[in-house]
Amino acid sequence: MKVLVVGGGGREHALVRKIRESPRVRQVFCAPGNAGIAREAKLVPIPAEDVKGLLSFAKEEEIDLTVVGPEAPLCAGIVDLFTAEHLRIFGPTKAAAELEGSKAFAKSLMQKHLVPTATFRNFRDSEDARAYLHTVLDWPVVLKADGLAAGKGVIVAKSLAEADEVIEEMMERRAFGEAGRRVVVEEFLAGEEASIIAFIDGGTIAVLEASQDHKAALDGDRGPNTGGMGAYSPAPVVTDRVLDQVVRDILVPIVHALHVENRDYRGILYAGLMIGKGGPKVLEFNVRLGDPETQALLPRLKTDLVEMMEATIDGTLDRVELRWDPRAALCVVMASGGYPGRYEKGRTISGLDEAEALDGVHVFHAGTEAAGGRTVTAGGRVLGVTALGADLADAQARAYAAVGKIRFEGAHYRRDIGHRAVKAVSP
Ligand code: AMP
Ligand code: GLY
Repeated sequence: MKVLVVGGGGREHALVRKIRESPRVRQVFCAPGNAGIAREAKLVPIPAEDVKGLLSFAKEEEIDLTVVGPEAPLCAGIVDLFTAEHLRIFGPTKAAAELEGSKAFAKSLMQKHLVPTATFRNFRDSEDARAYLHTVLDWPVVLKADGLAAGKGVIVAKSLAEADEVIEEMMERRAFGEAGRRVVVEEFLAGEEASIIAFIDGGTIAVLEASQDHKAALDGDRGPNTGGMGAYSPAPVVTDRVLDQVVRDILVPIVHALHVENRDYRGILYAGLMIGKGGPKVLEFNVRLGDPETQALLPRLKTDLVEMMEATIDGTLDRVELRWDPRAALCVVMASGGYPGRYEKGRTISGLDEAEALDGVHVFHAGTEAAGGRTVTAGGRVLGVTALGADLADAQARAYAAVGKIRFEGAHYRRDIGHRAVKAVSP
């Protein structure tokens, strides 16, 4: 088989590496990829958002399976486009991808089908939003731009004055562009976050092991939200009881709801959860794998990933058995200094091979580029340094040992990835 992976971040590097392990696969392409992916796949210089360009390439090259990493092409309808041309592609249709593409749609669907989530109101008009905020008694509240905003369109407002400013910025000044045309105002949920990611073939739900992301830029979960500064799997906060609740109260009803709406779901469904006193509640749905959760999950997956994806497309997921490496995995993201704000690019990275040579270590590239025989930084999140270990504490020690081998000017990473779980498991 010839497989095309769409995207160029750490998630896509982990996908490429796992897809290459499949005995069914002869050749892997990646569009647009990065310097690390270039060692394992043939790079195609087409941006992930250029769905028409990707279609022409897939036809020309006779690609047997296309795997989409990021949400933008899914929300733009890449699956509908490829399917109409009889090309096999893994992911949800445009209509189903609206579950991530519009927070207002996702919230309304959850409300209608009694899926546990924060109470909320959707607004199209800034004056209506303000009038509502004046009636709020419980602070903080959470304000979310409706559309795609790369994880940055969510603001926790502690007071009416703060919320007022956010409404002005999102709805009136359009700080997040069209994504802020509509805004969701919702209840603040307390608890611990976790990610549950499942393969869904329309009927069968195959739930992957739980993982936990670290969204804040700085140690102790302080600082601005980022795309994710690290992740680990399994996540002890997701006990068997919590997982049962997630499947019964969240995944089954939402897959049913999408079916009822004529938006049958095929692909990956990611539920971002807050696990508090009242049980798990949905913070958001994503229609793709998480980044960096994927970098912690896929090294643990023993089942052939291509077999899983093909079964999802064919509706035969019930015949595939999920098998896991019992070891834990932990991924530390190394970012450019300044991220998620302004940062410099083009810094030379050293020590990559020494880190990768360590036992159980995978160095996944995110924002990197080749420049005259060197590997240089080319994005905010630069690397996802993952290690497998006997338990989370061991995986954490190994991941940080690998991070210690890698250098580039201005490198920033959190030193406490896994802090909740490692405290929870080691007395
Ligand atoms: P989202 O993109 O909707 O997942 O929001 C991004 C991040 O904001 C989440 O990972 C949480 O850390 C935080 N967040 C979102 N919604 C809420 C909420 N209702 N209560 C508390 N924190 C939230
Ligand atoms: N790690 C969060 C996300 O992929 O949205």
